Amino acid sequence: EGDEELEKRAAVVTVMGHVDHGKTRLLDAIRNTKVVEGEHGGITQHIGAYQIGVEHDGRDRRITFIDTPGHEAFTAMRARGAKVTDIAILVVAADDGVMPQTIEALNHAQAANVPIVVAVNKIDKEGANPDKIRGQLTEYGLVPEEYGGDTMFVDVSARQNLNIDDLLSAVLLTADAALDLRANPNKDARGIAIEANLDKGRGAVATVLVQSGTLHVGDTIVAGIAHGRVRAMFNENGDTVEAAEPSRPVQVLGLSTVPRAGDTFLVTDDERTARQIAEKREAADRNAALAKRRKRISLEDFD
Ligand code: GTP
Ligand code: NA
Ligand code: MG
Repeated sequence: EGDEELEKRAAVVTVMGHVDHGKTRLLDAIRNTKVVEGEHGGITQHIGAYQIGVEHDGRDRRITFIDTPGHEAFTAMRARGAKVTDIAILVVAADDGVMPQTIEALNHAQAANVPIVVAVNKIDKEGANPDKIRGQLTEYGLVPEEYGGDTMFVDVSARQNLNIDDLLSAVLLTADAALDLRANPNKDARGIAIEANLDKGRGAVATVLVQSGTLHVGDTIVAGIAHGRVRAMFNENGDTVEAAEPSRPVQVLGLSTVPRAGDTFLVTDDERTARQIAEKREAADRNAALAKRRKRISLEDFD
C-alpha cells in the first residue's frame, strides 16, 4: 500500500475467554444492552460485532468489538476472531480463575501476534481473587505491569458496571502505544465475512468487517462463492447505512448465497465479474470434492 492515503481507523477488539466468564455481559455493560438475556441457555453460539463511540482524553474515539463464544466446541470461531483483530481482551472470571479455554484463547491471540489486555471480571463475587489470576497468567507469559511486565490487567465487574471506563482506556492506550491503525477509505472495499446465515425473508445475510476501502450500497461484491449487488446494509442497531468505512462491521443483504465465516470479500467492477469469480471458486471446490471422492473409491478397490 505504498503511496496510499492512509487514515486512522477504529481498533478492532475481540473479546475472548472461557465459557461463562462474562464476555457478553461485559459487552452489554460497555454498550448498555442486554444481549446475554436473549441468548439460548446463556451460551453464545455465534460471533457478534459492534462498533461503539467513547470519549477518551477529550477526544471521540470508536472501537469495534467482536464477541466470541467460550464454549469448548467453538474453537474455530475463537481462532477466526483472533485473526481479524488488532487487540484481544482476555476475560477471566476472578472466582473461577484460568480455565482451558482461557489458555486456548490466549494461545490464539499470541499465535496471531495480537496484544492482550486482561479483564479480570466478576470482582463483585464472593471468592473473587484477582491477584491469583495475575499469578496464574504470569506463568503463560502475561506479566502484569504492576509486576514489571507489559500486560495491562483491569479488574472489572460487568454486573456492577465497575471499572468499565478503565478497561476502555487500557484498550485505547494499547492501540495508541503499540499499533498504527490506518487504512485507505478512498478505494473499493475489502474485508472478511465474520458470520452469515440464511434468513427466510431477507435471504443471505452476511456480517462483514470492512478492512480497507469503503463499502457502499449498490457495490458488487464477491465473498467466497457468494456474489451479488449490496442491496442494503445495517449497523449493529439495525439502522440502515449507506457506507461502511474501514473497521466497520455491517450486515449485508443481496448475496446469491451464504458465504463461509472467514471468507474474504472484495468489490468488483460489475456483477458479471463477481459472478465469474464466484463460479470459478465453486467449480474449484466441486473438483476438489470430486477428487477426494475418487481417491476414496480407488482406495476401496484395494480392499
Ligand atoms: P459464553 O459466551 O457462553 O462463553 O459466556 P460469556 O463469557 O459471554 O458469559 P456471559 O456474559 O454469558 O455471563 C455468564 C454469567 O455470568 C451470566 O449469568 C452473567 O450474568 C454472569 N456475570 C457476568 N459478569 C458478571 C460479573 O461481573 N459479576 C457477576 N456476579 N456475574 C457476572
Ligand atoms: Na454464557
Ligand atoms: Mg457470551
